[in-house]
Amino acid sequence: MRKKIVAGNWKMNNGVQETEKLINEVKDSISILDQKNVRVIVAPSFVSLTSALENAKNSKIEVAAQNMHQEKNGAYTGEISAEILRSIGIKTVILGHSERRQYFGENDKLIAKKIDAALANNLEIIFCFGELLDQRKLENHLLEVGSQLKNSLFHLKAEDFKNIILAYEPVWAIGTGETATPEQAQEMHAFVRNVLANKFGEKTANSISILYGGSVKPSNAEEIFSKEDVDGGLIGGASLIAEDFVAIIKAI
Ligand code: 13P
Repeated sequence: MRKKIVAGNWKMNNGVQETEKLINEVKDSISILDQKNVRVIVAPSFVSLTSALENAKNSKIEVAAQNMHQEKNGAYTGEISAEILRSIGIKTVILGHSERRQYFGENDKLIAKKIDAALANNLEIIFCFGELLDQRKLENHLLEVGSQLKNSLFHLKAEDFKNIILAYEPVWAIGTGETATPEQAQEMHAFVRNVLANKFGEKTANSISILYGGSVKPSNAEEIFSKEDVDGGLIGGASLIAEDFVAIIKAI
């Protein structure tokens, strides 16, 4: 059975103390939940990762990084490698987020290199992809997402997908308050699963968790999560408020 996953991408928010506080609030609120098939992941900033791991110990919460560099090591001032993440006990990394694509010039080819580096270091990946508003308006969303998947994932082997979680994040829905309708999310998730089935086989496609991200809130989470091919969410803004994030976890 596919795992259900709720992941919080905390982006460039929260210092160490705020991170610890938020983790402990979430931890306490979900400790009574019985969610064997549900994973809860949070991705704080790099500087808070060590204390986040410490505070999440013996709880349901897993800690992920938001990004990493594609090279093994070397003269890349300000960057963090897969090996450095592993050295503090990080096991999961978000790659290909639209904010990385938009503000830091990351493209499919670079993201493919990051994916390879992460897999080579036994890191699990939350791979983000999604179309821009114009592409959606022109009804090119499936074409665009198909091309992102092809360019960043098609060189992999089926077995690599054991370590990959997908996150469909339509760019027009991120931080805008505008959410894809459950039907739009389902259409895309089914399309993605179909693309993967054609390339890597039904078994791989059916075992991969595909999350939806983009203005998920307590008020819309349940309806989005109820769709057959939506296996959870990657949450931005709402994951910074313990009560909201917990409500979204409960919705799954
Ligand atoms: P929002 O939930 O704030 O729209 O952000 C979504 C996101 O980018 C998660 O990675």
